[in-house]
Amino acid sequence: MNRNILITGGAGFIGSHVVRLFVEKYSEYRIYNLDALTYAGNLENLSDLESSSNYTFIKGDITDENFINALFLKYRFDSVIHLAAESHVDRSIKDPLAFVKTNVIGTMILLNAFKNCWNTNFNDKLFYHISTDEVYGTLGEIGLFTEQTSYDPNSPYSASKASSDHFVRAYGETYNLPYVITNCSNNYGQNQFPEKLIPLFINNIINDKPLPVYGDGNYTRDWLYVKDHAIAIDLVFHKGKQGNTYNIGGFNEWKNIDLVKLLCEQMDTKLNNEKGTSEKLITYVKDRPGHDLRYAIDASKINQELGWKPSVTFEQGLKRTIDWYLDNERWLSGVTSGEYQSYYQKQYNH
Ligand code: NAD
Ligand code: DAU
Repeated sequence: MNRNILITGGAGFIGSHVVRLFVEKYSEYRIYNLDALTYAGNLENLSDLESSSNYTFIKGDITDENFINALFLKYRFDSVIHLAAESHVDRSIKDPLAFVKTNVIGTMILLNAFKNCWNTNFNDKLFYHISTDEVYGTLGEIGLFTEQTSYDPNSPYSASKASSDHFVRAYGETYNLPYVITNCSNNYGQNQFPEKLIPLFINNIINDKPLPVYGDGNYTRDWLYVKDHAIAIDLVFHKGKQGNTYNIGGFNEWKNIDLVKLLCEQMDTKLNNEKGTSEKLITYVKDRPGHDLRYAIDASKINQELGWKPSVTFEQGLKRTIDWYLDNERWLSGVTSGEYQSYYQKQYNH
């Protein structure tokens, strides 16, 4: 079947892996990558796809209603995979309104454009909304997030994502808009902007800078290799049940401090450093306000219904990630010049 698929946020971290998978795997689909190229978007992530005949990049902002409506009139996308978002919790604490604009209003504008384009003729159409496990709030020492867990967001970022999830669901109930939502845990891998824990710490180790661990470091996240997330998105897009939510996770919980120590160990091996060199850079700093203690996903629904499970271990994925950042220093220095420097100063005060 031919499809006209709009992928939003395709120049970002996860989006670039999703665009690559779809362009390379489905030559019969036309893939349109819409991205505003904010600080987090980088076309270098996809430069080798530019000449692919089934791929088009469109620079544009999902909050620009006239532009988005005109785009739907022009291309009549039968499917949307919506990843564009402001995605960093620390930035949401400093500037919450930017998160409401893109994550809530931007999603609404896409939903309206999709609805108006197809009216009630939704046969073979799909609006696939990519969301996060952070909408569920925080866990204590035990338990897992399931698809039935109540929403309880704690940061402006997670509140904006929760709100967008609710609107997608509400459009399904009210207008029969065909949708699916996935809520995924922490991703890591190549192309991730170095404001997030793993690439930030890799970059700091390369540059012999302190590794700022928030609070006591005893916060837990469930880590998933980004290519495994892209594979899950492909599966849900093609086989997920409309009107359903699927949780996606790595079955891979780590306390931040343990993860950072493993990262230091792997970096020392790779850089031929004396054992313990990178660990000396660990510096405990002021905690993130409203810091969620623990996230952990029960991914048994997607596992049982669609047969998905992660394909790489954390040690393998982390090694691949480190190798990629060390092999792509030009990419890394490109994204850490300019705006990054002033962000870093404000966030970490040095
Ligand atoms: P990212 O910040 O790396 O990329 C976001 C992309 O969206 C960038 O290319 C940016 O230019 C684009 N964008 C931002 N505002 C836009 C706008 N107004 N119009 C058009 N494009 C815009 O984010 P990511 O980590 O790749 O996350 C992608 C999606 O996955 C987000 O919806 C996020 O909430 C969700 N998610 C992320 C993770 C994670 O661990 N990174 C986990 C679960 C879910
Ligand atoms: O759970 C999914 C979410 O994972 C996604 O929805 C978000 O888009 C993504 O950014 C990520 O959110 P986190 O806040 O969990 O990721 P981050 O990499 O910012 O932080 C991971 C943990 O590391 C968290 O407990 C905070 C801590 N941390 C982070 C940074 C940047 C530090 O200790 N020091 C740091 O400098």
